[in-house]
Amino acid sequence: MLEPEAPAAADAAPTGHDRMRVDAPAKVTGTAPYAYEQPVEEPLHLFPIVATIALGRIAEIDDADARALPGVRLVLTHANAPRIRVRTDAALTILQSSEVHHRGEIIGAVVADSPRVAREAAALVRVTYDEQPAELGFSIDDPRATVPRRVNAFKHGSYERGDADAGLTRGTLVEADYSLPMEFHSPIEPHAVTAIWHDVSALRPRSTRLTMYDTNQGTGGHGALLAPVLGLLPTQIEVISPYVGGSFGTKGWPWPHLVLVAMAAKRLTGRPVKYAMTRQQMFRTVGHRPASKQRIRLSVEADGRLGAIDHQSWAPTSRLRSYVDQTVSATRMMYDVADLRTIHHAVVQDAAPGSFMRAPGEFSGMFALETALDEAAHAVGVDPVDLRVRNEPAQDPETGKPWSTRNLVACLREGADQFGWAERQPVGARRDGEWLVGLGVASATYPNMYFVPNRAGVRFTGGRYVVELQASDIGTGAWTVLPQIAAEALGVGVDLVDADIGHTGLPWAIPAGGSVGTFAWGDAVVAAARKFRRTHGEHPDEGDHVTATGRMPRGSRGYSRHAFGAHFAQARVSTVTGEVRVDRMLGAFAAGRIINPRTARSQLIGGMTMGLSAALHEEAHLDERFGHVVNGDLAGYHVAAHADVGDLEAITLEEHDPWFGATGAKGIGELGIVGAPAAIGNAIFNASGVRLRDLPFTPDRLF
Ligand code: MOS
Repeated sequence: MLEPEAPAAADAAPTGHDRMRVDAPAKVTGTAPYAYEQPVEEPLHLFPIVATIALGRIAEIDDADARALPGVRLVLTHANAPRIRVRTDAALTILQSSEVHHRGEIIGAVVADSPRVAREAAALVRVTYDEQPAELGFSIDDPRATVPRRVNAFKHGSYERGDADAGLTRGTLVEADYSLPMEFHSPIEPHAVTAIWHDVSALRPRSTRLTMYDTNQGTGGHGALLAPVLGLLPTQIEVISPYVGGSFGTKGWPWPHLVLVAMAAKRLTGRPVKYAMTRQQMFRTVGHRPASKQRIRLSVEADGRLGAIDHQSWAPTSRLRSYVDQTVSATRMMYDVADLRTIHHAVVQDAAPGSFMRAPGEFSGMFALETALDEAAHAVGVDPVDLRVRNEPAQDPETGKPWSTRNLVACLREGADQFGWAERQPVGARRDGEWLVGLGVASATYPNMYFVPNRAGVRFTGGRYVVELQASDIGTGAWTVLPQIAAEALGVGVDLVDADIGHTGLPWAIPAGGSVGTFAWGDAVVAAARKFRRTHGEHPDEGDHVTATGRMPRGSRGYSRHAFGAHFAQARVSTVTGEVRVDRMLGAFAAGRIINPRTARSQLIGGMTMGLSAALHEEAHLDERFGHVVNGDLAGYHVAAHADVGDLEAITLEEHDPWFGATGAKGIGELGIVGAPAAIGNAIFNASGVRLRDLPFTPDRLF
């Protein structure tokens, strides 16, 4: 078989070896310029005004007291906001009417000389409403539910093969409902933006430019989506986002506060306008993982072979803008099941739109599926690792395509070995004082999508090479690994290569999302580096420069491309309080070639930690009467702290996947979170005999 060009041998190459984060010194010494810290002259400060009803109309806005406050420069509402002529996204189309679509929706802003005055003035704006009854809340078998044709833009809403109803009659039937709460993004750095307009003139509109210092996952996408809303060409917006204080989806898409700040800055021409989102505001208009309720019915034979699976999910979606996670999609390809039914149901609500949050869909669906498999293993008395191995499919059962590479079985075996799975006891058999101790396993998977060609440049300047593209380092290590990939393709030491990423004006590349960054950007970087060598040889001149396009390897569409892994967890459950502690977790992953083992491990244990956080703590409560998140801050919405994390390890198996691109690497950003809560829940069952099907596993749910 003809395969794409392989990279150089690993031991001679800059890739495949640890490299410390090149941005680490700037970040830990506090000198890295984040969006809010970019030096600008005489900035003004914005604070938003938000709706306090879930549905209805604004009857009146009384801003007299706000405007009278010394230091207030502008009160912006639908009454005086610029008109939006091109609508790209309903959530970005703000201040265009008196309608309110959800509680917390942005309905105005105050701009003032200081952040404190802006905030105080915003509280003085009195808004009265004509309120309408809102629809909030959803349930399994909800009569209002519909099946979207597509979810998350490209997955089928429903999919069946074989005869699920007939298959469910073979063997033992396992049937249960599962649920996950709304989860919210909690990066260390909340959203922040500074907007500055230049040369605003009605006479020469094309010479107008807008600079936005923002914290995001990709500058080009933000620029392209915001420009038409603001009446600009994409070339008239400059987006600068070199350092990002964490993000797992919320900064992948522009949200309405960016339009708000840009609108305000245009009104106050010449003065930069800054806005740093509060932690509480992170629970309103910047996306979240939608809640999920799921029903699984499966049949399992005495030898652990699955007979059939019926997996259906119900999820809320916003009337303002539809978004539904691809919750049951992994069930379609994960195991060798001939008779299968998978359906997404969506229920419209008058609430803020959900959006991508680390492994959107796979995270929620694999929690239910991997818990159900543990129930199946227990029902027929087959070891849960063996049960998964016995249902290993030879090719993708959904598409019929061969796997590009699939090493789930190796991950299960190697992980079991290193974790000490053989010491697992029968349910409830292991006790340590007040604590019941158990082990659990769950599989991980993440699809690797190669959306579009990316571009990259290589420049030689000051005796060094610079690799240039609109990539974003959200804490993942792009600053560090892109020079490794370039150095290898150029045949030079990595210390001779720098990166230039995180702003528009560079060759176009996809935002950091969908776990595609390293392999998709890497492909473009390899293409540019090879072209540079062909064009300029080993001894380039100052200023030599090329750009090139990286394309998905020819033939790769003929393969099913996913990364795989296996989580092992040891949980202890207090018989006194119901508290769960996770003593140790081990993840074994096969994710193609590992470019930098240090940053890869950080990605994987980061995913596992976020999974642990979801398993033990994370839960937002939507008040179904009033439409607000009741516990919308870090006091009420708990995320895991260091004390929650025991012995945590991620190992990677040797794998090279040529169908992902020139580097042989797969995506790892999301893989580590998928399945992690199921492994913990399965360990809780092994410890205590209590089967938990609702996240998070708080003490009240134990006994
Ligand atoms: Mo992500 S949830 O791929 O930004």
